[in-house]
Amino acid sequence: MTTHVLQEMKHKGEKIAMLTAYDYSYARLLDSAMIDVILVGDSASNVMAGHTSTLPITLNEMIYHASSVVRAVSRALVVVDMPFGTYQGNWKEALHSAIRIMKESGADAVKLEGGREVLESVDRILSAGIPVMGHLGLTPQSIHKFGTYVVRATDENEARKLVEDAHLLEKAGCFGIVLEKIPSKLAAQVSGGIKIPIIGIGAGSQVDGQVLVLHDMLGITQEFSPRFLRRYHNLGEEIIGSVQAYIADVKSRDFPNEKEQY
Ligand code: KIV
Repeated sequence: MTTHVLQEMKHKGEKIAMLTAYDYSYARLLDSAMIDVILVGDSASNVMAGHTSTLPITLNEMIYHASSVVRAVSRALVVVDMPFGTYQGNWKEALHSAIRIMKESGADAVKLEGGREVLESVDRILSAGIPVMGHLGLTPQSIHKFGTYVVRATDENEARKLVEDAHLLEKAGCFGIVLEKIPSKLAAQVSGGIKIPIIGIGAGSQVDGQVLVLHDMLGITQEFSPRFLRRYHNLGEEIIGSVQAYIADVKSRDFPNEKEQY
């Protein structure tokens, strides 16, 4: 899978399926299932490390997660989130961070949040030959500015800015954009007016692909259930059930039995 193939998929109207992964074992399963794109999201900060936001995760931690994923993948495109504080406001630091991600993890591309504010960083990273994916709408690294996780760009000014930013990112050379938690009509308008693939999360069906956080769609995280989330499994409950069965077997001396020992 390459950024060029994603572009062709948009052109042919074939939807792009993207999921997050943060480790070798899950990435291997996702790749075997033929997922198109694996995002090593900074949501690792929440689902892997237990932080309440994406802000604390470091560049070294993202590189660790990304290199574990890359070792597992033979087909999917691997995109890595640039963590908070490694690209905003300073293109030299942005370029240095993106180069470290690519060199040390072996990933295919980076993703960063924001529009015009990060355009110079986007430009410099692209000039180094590193593919960049944008991320607009609800950008979790700005949660302290927003103050809430409600739907973004519902007012005219923010919607206009989002459309302009999407065009700026396309013009700069981004190979795709994630649109998070915005009205579906607005997402459809962006996707229709732009040639690069638009991947939605809580952005409706009229975009070029969808992304979900793996732990949410598998039901490993159980307390998070926004309207846009479809749960495909209740793995959390299954894991608890299996662990309880194991505990009971150990306590009752049922495990290990004759055949399970040497
Ligand atoms: O970090 C992440 O998982 C993301 C997705 C929600 C798009 O950025």
